Amino acid sequence: MLVLAFSEYLDQAQRLATALDVALKPVYLHRFPDGESLLRLPESLPEHVIICRSLNQPNDKLIELMLCVNTARELGAKRITLVAPYLCYMRQDIANQPGEAVSQQIIGKMLADLCDDVITVDPHLHRIETLAQAIPLHNAISLTATDAIGRFLQTKLKHAVLLGPDAESEQWVKAIAQKIDFEFLVAEKVRLGDKQVTMVFPDFDFQGKQVVIIDDMASTGRTLAKATGLLLAGGAKQVYAAITHPLFCGDAEAHIMQAGVHEIWSTDSVVHPTACIYLDTLLAQAVMEII
Ligand code: R5P
Repeated sequence: MLVLAFSEYLDQAQRLATALDVALKPVYLHRFPDGESLLRLPESLPEHVIICRSLNQPNDKLIELMLCVNTARELGAKRITLVAPYLCYMRQDIANQPGEAVSQQIIGKMLADLCDDVITVDPHLHRIETLAQAIPLHNAISLTATDAIGRFLQTKLKHAVLLGPDAESEQWVKAIAQKIDFEFLVAEKVRLGDKQVTMVFPDFDFQGKQVVIIDDMASTGRTLAKATGLLLAGGAKQVYAAITHPLFCGDAEAHIMQAGVHEIWSTDSVVHPTACIYLDTLLAQAVMEII
């Protein structure tokens, strides 16, 4: 078995390779001025190849995945496992208007056609029960970062209130709260546009409390900023955020910091300066279970 790594995700891939005690080899990638990608893989490959790369900012990466998998198979790989802690295009799971592409199903099928196994972490699945309904593979494996986040929070805070900013976050905030015996609340959020959300909290006295907002992803940062502003206005002493997938697009981080977040902690699912909760052990265990 061998882990193939792309340069921007080398640290995470190396941690996975170390946890699995297997070799890592880099994929050489060149982007031409016109946006096309050139890939070069090691000349000989073992039968089982793990491609470790999150699929945030996905459009180039999906093409590169296709080039990588097809080349790996030509070079002798018989089994390809994609370890992509962040999976793209999982949110668009219905056509909201006639004619819209249901990206979750289309990209899911593409990944299933390319790979033999797909391992990911807390994918954004809300209208389907299992990852296999999006990626039709026997080994479409959805892990959760909640244990890792819970363990991390215990090292940082003796006690805090955990807040899920919307109904969808309840599954994660509840799992973490139960694991580490912190109290939790779930807010109601309405998204009015890409960068506009409204939020209402259940009745609770935040005065003097340390609060950690738990969310599966931060994209524009508007959800975190709105929750932070309301918590501080409600008297919270300090507001932190613990995020599984730190996408932080555009001005997201600056917007959240301006809102008064004390500190943001994220997993290393996506390369980001806030990534301090490592997923290598979780991912390695999942790989070990399928080989
Ligand atoms: C929504 O369902 C997700 O769990 C996140 O709350 C959302 O994607 C965050 O987006 P943004 O950072 O753009 O507010």
